[in-house]
Amino acid sequence: MTTFEKTEQFVLGNYGRFPVAMSRGEGARIWDEAGQEYLDFCTGIAVCSLGHSHPVLVNAITEQAGQLLHCSNLYHIPQQSELAQFIVEQAMELPGKVFFCNSGAEANDGAVKTARKYHYDQTGTNDRYEIITCQQSFHGRTLGGIAATGQEKVKVGFDPLLPGFVHIPFNDAEALREAVTDKTAAILFEPIQGEGGITPATAEFFQTAAELRDEHGLLLMYDEVQCGFGRTGDWCGWRTILRDSGVVAEPDVVTWAKGMGGGFPIGSFWVSDRCAAAMGPGTHGSTFGGTPLASTASLAVLREIQSSGCMAQIPQLEAKVKARVAGWDYPQIAGVRGVGLMLGFQVNLDTLPEGEQTPIYLVKLLMAAGLLTVPAGADIVRWLPPLNVTEAEIDEAFEKFESVLDQLN
Ligand SMILES: Cc1ncc(COP(=O)(O)O)c(C=O)c1O
Repeated sequence: MTTFEKTEQFVLGNYGRFPVAMSRGEGARIWDEAGQEYLDFCTGIAVCSLGHSHPVLVNAITEQAGQLLHCSNLYHIPQQSELAQFIVEQAMELPGKVFFCNSGAEANDGAVKTARKYHYDQTGTNDRYEIITCQQSFHGRTLGGIAATGQEKVKVGFDPLLPGFVHIPFNDAEALREAVTDKTAAILFEPIQGEGGITPATAEFFQTAAELRDEHGLLLMYDEVQCGFGRTGDWCGWRTILRDSGVVAEPDVVTWAKGMGGGFPIGSFWVSDRCAAAMGPGTHGSTFGGTPLASTASLAVLREIQSSGCMAQIPQLEAKVKARVAGWDYPQIAGVRGVGLMLGFQVNLDTLPEGEQTPIYLVKLLMAAGLLTVPAGADIVRWLPPLNVTEAEIDEAFEKFESVLDQLN
């Protein structure tokens, strides 16, 4: 039986998969079982921040695996405390505390619980339970995650959903203001919407959200699962967006996963000192949260991102990509948007053959040309290269992309 046949017969069919089976990776490259090489600008959807098989990560995991893989959170875990200190002091640079889990959806579930519990502790009631999120958002596939997500397609067939979520148009500051009521516990949004189509939040939207937090005592929560930990050229996506805006919108809660383990599964959320006390003993937990192995892997990734200085090259790489696309004259591509190495090429769907008018059509052609990309939203092809991608690899990706667009014309 081939891998394709085994997947078909034994694995739950919840994913639409491309007919490729991956076998090994190195740096920004990945090879399939047939030996075909690809430049990997998918990186497990923004996960492999250091590329594949980075020796620092491989060595850290190997050494820790021989020392202690797992122990319960009934005990102190030195690697977990070390990682939490790194996140608080180096990444957030704001006082607070960190909880560890295994995925982005779990991190967001924890954020939602934090918001409800914070207000419960203030009032002794659960009257403030509503979370405002945005249309086109994506917050994960758990029952909490799909309720929070502002896209109908993830919810169909799963009623009754967890109640208490209100969705407003993304970047509509007025709609945000109007949505706040005495039931509102928190505002949750992605500083850069990823799955929805690579749309950064505006500084005005951040500012309004921060004002509403101050006026109403609600919590301001950022989902940095996709845009966090270096992808934008800063540890924090929201900081990159706000850097030159004059707007200050420091959050109460931030959630992460994806790139923080460089491919090792780990998620987390940070809460400011304002609401840390809400999540005391017995309120929340995860058997696998912050194990010695997961914490070691994440620490190795974050320290390597820091010591290699790879975040510093990201603004130049972003500018290089945007400048090259600005010079393009391909009818298929309307332009490129995004922040840092979270980039979305907007496809003019009506230029594609009938019956093929989705970004997946281009993603398949690019894959055949040896470049892995990811579809997003209705009309976006995403580039999510490793953070340590080289300029030469970006040039190579452009050569492949342009050869596909030349063929189409
Ligand atoms: C912004 C955002 N939040 C949450 C999630 C869910 O993360 P996970 O798949 O690790 O549960 C994703 C995944 O794509 C995401 O992009």
